[in-house]
Amino acid sequence: MSTSRGRDQVDHSNELPSTLIVAEDAARKAGAILLELMDTAIVREKGKNDLVTNADLAAQHAIREILSEAFPSHAWIGEEDTLHQRPEESQLCWVVDPLDGTANYAHRFPNFAVSIGLVQNSQILLGVVFDPCADEMFSAIRGCGATLNGTPIRNSGQTQLDRAMIAASFPPDVSRDSPAVEQFLNVLTRCQSVRRLGSAALNLCYVGCGRMDGYWTETVKPWDVAAGALISREAGSYLRSTDDDEFNVWDARLIVASSKSLFSEIKECLQV
Ligand code: IPD
Ligand code: CA
Ligand code: CA
Repeated sequence: MSTSRGRDQVDHSNELPSTLIVAEDAARKAGAILLELMDTAIVREKGKNDLVTNADLAAQHAIREILSEAFPSHAWIGEEDTLHQRPEESQLCWVVDPLDGTANYAHRFPNFAVSIGLVQNSQILLGVVFDPCADEMFSAIRGCGATLNGTPIRNSGQTQLDRAMIAASFPPDVSRDSPAVEQFLNVLTRCQSVRRLGSAALNLCYVGCGRMDGYWTETVKPWDVAAGALISREAGSYLRSTDDDEFNVWDARLIVASSKSLFSEIKECLQV
């Protein structure tokens, strides 16, 4: 049988189910650390309104230990590293946010998650997003659908913006004259309701399981969305860049919606 794969492009699809189990285990361990440290976490500012805690670091350390022991040849990008080096295209690379929603965490607002994605050739092969407060594990393997605590999930199928609940993310340093503010007003005045919950990873999963109908962001990083983008897409969501190009995990501007027509309506609102 002929194959279009290059010499270095090994097919890892048979190994993905067992790899997912290890990633889920790492996400659970990290989630337990986050819960344990929540009441005593030491918060500091990395930048304006951009927070990090000792729990982010401890959770990332635990994930890295588990993944590097199980998969020593895989590359790694963790949010809390000082350097973020994009891997060679063909290399399998973990893309990890040990705590997505640190501002919520610092306020003990129970909407934050551990996010672990596995990327190769700019494609997301698997993703897990674990919310330790709700004990919800969202998982997906490329081409195999998405699940919540083992049960398959599907987006809402909503097609109309005026009936939709839409989530948004803003940069930590958003200012009055940021285009994001005008975009937000456009969506706010045309949809049923808007939420800014504070975790990009969970927003994506919520579109995947039908709790939200759409989500957009222009300011996130690969570790915020690698896992959630796959989960939402595998749950049937329509997901592209905010320019309506193919979604690129390394340039993570995106709109995700429960249908193509809803996607187009959100996209229109963002043209400011
Ligand atoms: C943040 C969250 C938030 C998004 C920010 C991210 P962090 O991640 O995903 O929803 O608006 O852009 O930086 O800092 O909590 O890991
Ligand atoms: Ca994040
Ligand atoms: Ca984070």
